[in-house]
Amino acid sequence: MLSLPQYQEVISEYFEKIAICKEPKNLYEPISYILSLGGKRIRPVLTLMATDVFDGDHKKALSAAAAVEVFHNFSLVHDDIMDDAPLRRGKETVHEKWNVNTGILSGDAMLILAYQYFEVYEPMIFQSLAKLFSKTALEVCEGQQYDVDFETRDDVTIPEYLKMIEYKTAVLLGAAMKMGAIVAQTSEENRNLIYDFGLNLGIAFQLQDDYLDAFGDPKTFGKQVGGDIIENKKTYLYLKALEFSSKDQQQQLSHLFSVQLVDNSEKIESVKQLFIETGASEATKKAIENYTLKAFNTLNKMSISEDKKTLLKTFGEMLMSRNV
Ligand code: IPE
Ligand code: IPE
Ligand code: MG
Ligand code: MG
Ligand code: MG
Repeated sequence: MLSLPQYQEVISEYFEKIAICKEPKNLYEPISYILSLGGKRIRPVLTLMATDVFDGDHKKALSAAAAVEVFHNFSLVHDDIMDDAPLRRGKETVHEKWNVNTGILSGDAMLILAYQYFEVYEPMIFQSLAKLFSKTALEVCEGQQYDVDFETRDDVTIPEYLKMIEYKTAVLLGAAMKMGAIVAQTSEENRNLIYDFGLNLGIAFQLQDDYLDAFGDPKTFGKQVGGDIIENKKTYLYLKALEFSSKDQQQQLSHLFSVQLVDNSEKIESVKQLFIETGASEATKKAIENYTLKAFNTLNKMSISEDKKTLLKTFGEMLMSRNV
């Protein structure tokens, strides 16, 4: 096993080499642009780590790791159109810098490029990877559709929300890890256990993403703070705030989420205040911790060495304490 910074280094070196500079420029430049902005690259690191955890060679997993990261970037380009987001990784989003049509087509091309990364694998491994990838990609679309549908619903429940984030976000972290396990050709049982680990970590990850969307520091966050509030997203923060509200607070919150306000900054401030007052922000922090612990519990069912478990836990703890 390598250390976390070493895995990150392996990934960034690999991404430097795969720069795509082809014609037409308006198709490929946005792809290079979004990929060069980097991001945390947690999914490909998870793929490489999972391969080593099951005694495979992480170098053999690089192509699968790239597939996952390119797919993730595709989903961000389309997500930013759907969420009307101006900022990504501290820079203009693709549809702002170019236009919506460019974002759609460059995104589509990235989805195809992602699949191409599987072509290097031998038939048995290729089939397992492609099958998992297709299932996961469809689930991400389903999750994204629920996310949008929930914007205009006022009766979303916590179980519905959890299903939505499992699909839009967590399944990809699970799949990233399971792909590493597939490349390592480990047992079906190990593949499923590491998927569960990634899935629960992914739920914690999206809860944290929701938390930071409201409470992140605009100077370092890299995305528009309060974007979810502007878009009336039914996040864990919002649903818990409604649950814990007095009648009066409930009315305020529902009202703020039902009108199109001219002054968004006032809406953001009032909503954040309600998230804090009602105890929703504390409840969200607690839920992040609980899902991370749930992920750690699945590690105990795995027969891998203690130092491997420790590395995976360190990664989980790092995600929990992130501010980007
Ligand atoms: C953002 O993912 C989208 C979510 C699923 C929450 P990341 O927070 O991993 O984004 P980057 O790749 O690091 O920019
Ligand atoms: C995004 O969720 C999930 C996918 C891109 C599939 P968000 O909409 O919360 O992600 P951010 O906050 O824009 O990164
Ligand atoms: Mg978004
Ligand atoms: Mg979204
Ligand atoms: Mg978000």
